[in-house]
Amino acid sequence: MPTYRIAPSILSADFARLGEEVRNVVSAGADIIHFDVMDNHYVPNLTVGPLVCEAIRPHVQVPIDVHLMVKPVDRIIPDFAKAGANIITFHPEASDHIDRSLQLIRDNGCKAGLVFNPATPLHYLEHVMDKLDIILLMSVNPGFGGQSFIPHTLKKVEDVRRLIDESGRDIMLEVDGGIKVDNIEAVARAGADTFVAGSAIFGKPDYKAVIDAMRNELAKV
Ligand code: DX5
Ligand code: ZN
Repeated sequence: MPTYRIAPSILSADFARLGEEVRNVVSAGADIIHFDVMDNHYVPNLTVGPLVCEAIRPHVQVPIDVHLMVKPVDRIIPDFAKAGANIITFHPEASDHIDRSLQLIRDNGCKAGLVFNPATPLHYLEHVMDKLDIILLMSVNPGFGGQSFIPHTLKKVEDVRRLIDESGRDIMLEVDGGIKVDNIEAVARAGADTFVAGSAIFGKPDYKAVIDAMRNELAKV
């Protein structure tokens, strides 16, 4: 069985109590904190930046996974690395120089990855597999929490699983958007190992109950 990781997205957390929220979700069993950065330019919403990443950093020991939905990409990478990010991913169509952006993330001491929207082609992977620590597949269009999982993205998860296996590299395969207790098993069967969930966890009163239920589903795979 692969190592499965559950990555709650703080997008659905109570921002007025963010330190407490991330501590609670880690005590409830979260493996990673997923940190959604939106710029009201690349996506039609505006969220949080490096200051907030720095503010939550002392509250959790687990990796912070910064999902950049911003354009341009490069200028903000060193700021997030200094703010304590461990993983930084960006959308290839938002960078003019994908290879440079990936290298910049690694040069700043973080794991690097590309993010694919439901309709973004996978050909961006072709020349950069050796620079990737993670591939993030969106199962909704980026910009908002609480959207429904788009079923045809499962096929893309299978395709990327195959590409990773063929490469022989140790690359995480993360899926983001609309993941719930009732579909996480199917996403894992398609080949994902890391699962972002915002509204499924932070929207509920008992974070541990949801995370435990997700792990029970993953144990069936
Ligand atoms: C969407 C974000 C997701 C989102 C997931 O643009 O990247 O991380 O917060 O939220 P849910 O799990 O509610 O779809
Ligand atoms: Zn995200």
